[in-house]
Amino acid sequence: MIVDIINKKRKKEELTTRELETLFQGYQEGKVKDYQMSAFLMAICCQGMSEEETLDLTDIFLNSGKKLDLSDLKMKTVDKHSTGGVGDKTTLILGPIVASCHIPMVKMSGRGLGYTGGTIDKLESIPGFKIELTEKEIKAQAKAVGLIVTSQSEELVPLDKKVYALRDVTATTESIPLIASSIMSKKIASGADKIIIDIKIGTGALIKTEEEAEELSDLMIKIGEKYGSEVKTCFSNMDHPLGRTIGNKLEVIEAMAVLQNKEKGELRDHCLNLAAELIAMAKEESLEQAKKEAEEALTSGKAYQKFEEWIKAQHGDLTKLKITSKQYAIKATTSGTLTNIDGNALAKIALQLGAGRTTKGEKIDYNAGIALAKTIGSTVKENDILALLYTNKDISQLNLQNVFEIE
Ligand code: URA
Repeated sequence: MIVDIINKKRKKEELTTRELETLFQGYQEGKVKDYQMSAFLMAICCQGMSEEETLDLTDIFLNSGKKLDLSDLKMKTVDKHSTGGVGDKTTLILGPIVASCHIPMVKMSGRGLGYTGGTIDKLESIPGFKIELTEKEIKAQAKAVGLIVTSQSEELVPLDKKVYALRDVTATTESIPLIASSIMSKKIASGADKIIIDIKIGTGALIKTEEEAEELSDLMIKIGEKYGSEVKTCFSNMDHPLGRTIGNKLEVIEAMAVLQNKEKGELRDHCLNLAAELIAMAKEESLEQAKKEAEEALTSGKAYQKFEEWIKAQHGDLTKLKITSKQYAIKATTSGTLTNIDGNALAKIALQLGAGRTTKGEKIDYNAGIALAKTIGSTVKENDILALLYTNKDISQLNLQNVFEIE
């Protein structure tokens, strides 16, 4: 009985492969209802899962759809995943860097989860961008462009897509076994040989502590080993947003500025470091040499050219990428040094502006978001603009003063 399995997990008992299949495959087939799966996911969040259960769940996700076989490309493909952060537009920058170094990247991405943005939503904010590609289209684009970002279609890990959407709106995002199986099933299904996982830690991330990050890292490496993929993990801070913007169109525009060498700083450095790790793994060369190649691809403009080629291949029209919502300035009420920007609080505000979803399937306002005008460490004078808010919603009730710490 479904309810007995939910109850077993609620009591922190280990589930058999069969029991996990009953719940998750049943959910895929519609036999297990949203409310039952919500309760089950909450039990997993509160009581955890063993390594064995997590490996089983990854397998169930993986077998819910097809796997991509990229062996006819006769090249090692790479993939990157971030565990989710605020303002994290790394894929939009790293993908073109790596692909312009002749390493094919085939990536399946998700939509926004909780208060963290999703690459698919960001890409969909580009007018015309096609996010669902068939296997044939993926292979053709891998050969022609060397870079693809596609959503989890009905063919590839469809069960994760369904569960992910439910987790987003039931406060069940922050679970290490659920994150590990969700991410790794997509990575394995997209056929990558070498995978880098960027584990975000901090107030604006799904993972809050270094211990949790270690646990997630170990699990992901073990899952990779089981399926013959090389997995590397890196940890990065997410106490404050990555880069200057939060919100879909705003983040695409910022990523373009980095690729056009108009922006320096943490976001650029982070993308170069991750790109170098992937290049080193794929070409089996030193990290030092890979760093040089990544830097050259970016500064020479090769990476930006690859970005344009990729967006065009997926039917996106960058000439139509414009912010059309109203704009409001948030000003400093005191003078001093900007010592912190609360990423988590900003993400929640971005959600209220319309940049994310609060219910399953809700429509996003791609124009909505926040553009920071100051970085941590800046000197701020009273009345200086700290951020611009983009929204068509009423913002009279929003209070941003605690988001910025000025001392
Ligand atoms: N990204 C995913 O794909 N799944 C998660 O569970 C969290 C982040």
